[in-house]
Amino acid sequence: MKGLILSGGKGTRLYPLTYTRAKQLIPVANKPILFRVIEAIRDAGIRDIGIVTGDTGPEICETVRDGSQFGVDVTYIPQAAPLGLAHAVKISRDFLGDDRFVMFLGDNVIQGGISPLIADFANHEDWNSQIVLTQIEQPEQYGVAELNGEGRIVRLVEKPKVPPSNLALVGIYMFDHHIFEATDEIKPSFRNELEITDAIQWLVDHDYRVYPHIHQGWWIDTGRPDDMLTANSLVLEELTPEILGSIDAQSEVDSRVTVEAGAEIVNSVVRGPAIIGRDSRIINSYVGPFTSIYHHVVIENSEIERSIVLEHSAIRDIPTRLQDSLIGRHAEVNKSTIRPQALKLHLGDHSRLNLL
Ligand code: G1P
Repeated sequence: MKGLILSGGKGTRLYPLTYTRAKQLIPVANKPILFRVIEAIRDAGIRDIGIVTGDTGPEICETVRDGSQFGVDVTYIPQAAPLGLAHAVKISRDFLGDDRFVMFLGDNVIQGGISPLIADFANHEDWNSQIVLTQIEQPEQYGVAELNGEGRIVRLVEKPKVPPSNLALVGIYMFDHHIFEATDEIKPSFRNELEITDAIQWLVDHDYRVYPHIHQGWWIDTGRPDDMLTANSLVLEELTPEILGSIDAQSEVDSRVTVEAGAEIVNSVVRGPAIIGRDSRIINSYVGPFTSIYHHVVIENSEIERSIVLEHSAIRDIPTRLQDSLIGRHAEVNKSTIRPQALKLHLGDHSRLNLL
């Protein structure tokens, strides 16, 4: 089997962070989501992985390279325009050949990995496709499945105004080569994309065997800032804590905290689950649960909780606790000491600032 990761898309809902970084490379619990996806595919025993890239292709190639750091072989497949998930499959035909494959959206985070799913598909050679469904509250933002009384698929609809059920399509799909017949036949949707949902419906309509798997754990499509923070919280809860950095005697760091190598905690309180990245410094501060501080960050005389801070940023002397915040690279948040005392902002396009 092969793996196909879709890593195009502009990530507009995550502006301004995604002006300068591919959304799939934003870390949750200090590891880029794309790395988590590659590792999940590798852990399921797949070595040959294609990554479909868009505008952010160069950054993704530079970071993932040939995949050897993960123990896999990566082939890049550039997609000239974001013309849909089924279009991505279509342009990957040379790479996929006649092999069965798993397609994984590079911004999805799922509990428990995909090894059991892949084993299930591998054990059923007569299955043409397996899809993953999960119960969610607002299915209209996703592909939605309608099943019959025996649990077989009746209908799949992309972003329906009136959802036929609350079973959303998770961004993980398994196919054999018959999917190319479908991607050749379907027409662009209302959003001018070749929808994978329509391609799977085509398989169902043409009596190919498509089986649903109902996923019971959590699953997050990290499209919006709050999804990112939620994914971060969920992954942090599952992390095995490790202390590699230093903690001074005046600090209080609870048992669910990871402190990476070279990090320093000085006269501070860190409550888990949380992670403090490589060479970061926490001084006279409070870091609360569900917070990921990436590498080379300074937090001084401040309080922060349920947030993600990216590399080389500094937060100093903040009088109010920061919460539910996503802070990009090389950002500085500090208290103004120069008169006139006022809020002085240098915010990028599409930044959001919620004052007290
Ligand atoms: C895509 C699929 C949708 C699926 C979702 C999962 O949506 O079209 O069917 O439920 O991924 O993340 P998009 O992210 O393109 O809106």
